[in-house]
Amino acid sequence: MKSIVVLFALTLLLFSCGGVVDNHQTLSEAQQIQATPLSEFWQPLDVFDIKDDQKSKEVLYGRDLIIYTAYYFGPKGRIAQQTNGLNCQNCHLNAGTKPFGNNYGSVASTYPKVRARSGKMESIEKRINDCFERSLNGKPLLENSKEMRAMVAYMKFLGENVKKGEKAAGSGLKDLPFLNRAADPSRGKGVYELRCASCHQSNGQGIIDGIGQSYVYPPLWGPRSFNNAAGLSRISNMAKYVKYNMPLGVSHEAPELSDEDAWDVAAYIESKPRPHKAVPQDWPDISKKPIDHPFGPYADQFSELQHKYGPFTAMKKNKK
Ligand code: HEC
Ligand code: HEC
Repeated sequence: MKSIVVLFALTLLLFSCGGVVDNHQTLSEAQQIQATPLSEFWQPLDVFDIKDDQKSKEVLYGRDLIIYTAYYFGPKGRIAQQTNGLNCQNCHLNAGTKPFGNNYGSVASTYPKVRARSGKMESIEKRINDCFERSLNGKPLLENSKEMRAMVAYMKFLGENVKKGEKAAGSGLKDLPFLNRAADPSRGKGVYELRCASCHQSNGQGIIDGIGQSYVYPPLWGPRSFNNAAGLSRISNMAKYVKYNMPLGVSHEAPELSDEDAWDVAAYIESKPRPHKAVPQDWPDISKKPIDHPFGPYADQFSELQHKYGPFTAMKKNKK
């Protein structure tokens, strides 16, 4: 009888030892997970942890201007009425900090730089005003205004943990392979109705707040949208932005649209009317113009239609 009890106890011990071994494995897995950083992508330092009072005020004001741009500069702006009512954050997500959400991680480290579009050395101020004039289809800010200085201070703060000359991992937009056909606006319309219209509306005009000041869901085309000279007027930028950021809430780690859906819905949006801006100075060296620029002149013989929607592979080869 006694030996049976001992045997039983031994068996129990053996099983629980097995348990201990398992626990060990689980523990070391957990330790491994803890050891890898939260994200391998750039994240800014904490904006609410700036010790210097004056710097803190300026940086936070800059961040505010990025998030609530319409409140300051929209059609009912309290400082001036000089934009279409979009916020910078509508396209530079999470105040310009989201990985592959068109973030500002590399701005401080790479500007001033020569840009092919202007053919000139561009400061951060000039680049910000580019988005005021194109993405916000509006007027530029004075380069020494309090607001411009605050936005630049914010972007410089974001870049404090990025080495000069280097690019932050996950900044800007994530690449998307070309389709082997032209992107198709009519197929894109189907994607749009299913995945986008609930917020941006079937007519693409979005939804404005109760006092007509700021968009809850921004417009994607029409008179209050970005103009044809803006970055998102290039289908590749639109497809990359949408694939990894829309419908609202997705990320580059968990996108929901297939590559085809992203290109086609981008084509549908680009097929719609939007404000035009005359930019005769753009691309002084026309061979540097991106292949998907939506309007000519071009350095090659491909049609405007193909430049707008693809297929791009042959064009890209030709450019090389
Ligand atoms: C409609 C979308 C949209 C809005 C709104 C917008 N931008 Fe942009 N912005 C873009 C896109 C797209 C790019 C990248 C374009 C490219 O590389 O061709 C860009 C690029 C930039 C860059 C350069 C980033 C880099 O790493 O080189 C800065 C700085 C910038 N925007 C600032 C602003 C500011 C400030 C505002 C608000 C006043 C604003 N943007 C509003 C779409 C937008
Ligand atoms: C749940 C609501 C929602 C859905 C669905 C949604 N969006 Fe958005 N979208 C937003 C919001 C909100 C913003 C602005 C983000 C911000 O300010 O943080 C935005 C921004 C955008 C922008 C940049 C701003 C502009 O006005 O140009 C584009 C382009 C865009 N969405 C395209 C799409 C496409 C294409 C789809 C469908 C695949 C889609 N969205 C689905 C809510 C949505």
